[in-house]
Amino acid sequence: AVYEALPALLLPWYAENARDLPWRHSREPYRVWVSEIMLQQTRVEAVIGYYNRFMAAFPTIYALAEAEESRVLKLWEGLGYYSRARNLQKTAKQIVDDFDGVFPDTAEALEKLPGIGAYTAGAIASICFECPSAAVDGNVLRIMARITADDSPIDLPATKRKIGAALEKVYPKGRCGAFTQALMELGACVCTPKSPGCTACPVQTLCAAHRENAVQSFPVKLPK
Ligand code: ADE
Repeated sequence: AVYEALPALLLPWYAENARDLPWRHSREPYRVWVSEIMLQQTRVEAVIGYYNRFMAAFPTIYALAEAEESRVLKLWEGLGYYSRARNLQKTAKQIVDDFDGVFPDTAEALEKLPGIGAYTAGAIASICFECPSAAVDGNVLRIMARITADDSPIDLPATKRKIGAALEKVYPKGRCGAFTQALMELGACVCTPKSPGCTACPVQTLCAAHRENAVQSFPVKLPK
């Protein structure tokens, strides 16, 4: 219910405040996919240079599928988690061999590919194909837990499912990609884990945690 006002508040804010990031210049699934894989364990500022060099070296999924693995790994050097690079090439080969180089266009089909989990599938499906598929990561869980002052531990798969399902009900038709990225942007730039910028937040009026002066109490995590 509170979620219903989210698109109307977030989309205009995002239009004004989105950072100009290289992977936001294209909705080609190949480019969005590579950016999302790089961003999985690495910060935006660190990814930018790697992303630009990678795209210059492998401008298409065919170029990546045909490349020497050593060259792919060389371009990944410094990003870490090298299994991501190996998986990326494995998936590129599979998409070329099985789908003539064309990405599947639903989150469900995307999730069957190696290295593409629910988050990445939702990001690609919404950004590239305008599907109402949520991309639920730690940022989105934190935002939603705060807005609804929800104390369900965010590490539980059931919490993630609940939040994803609630969000998908309000995904705005024709603006699904912008909505996914607006949530990412809010989590990265405003609704941050420490000292969130509530005074500049476009959804402050909706936020139960803010109203209760308890932003720092959310999200709740399971005890380690
Ligand atoms: N983090 C994960 N995906 C992102 C994206 N597309 N833009 C900015 N930050 C992100």
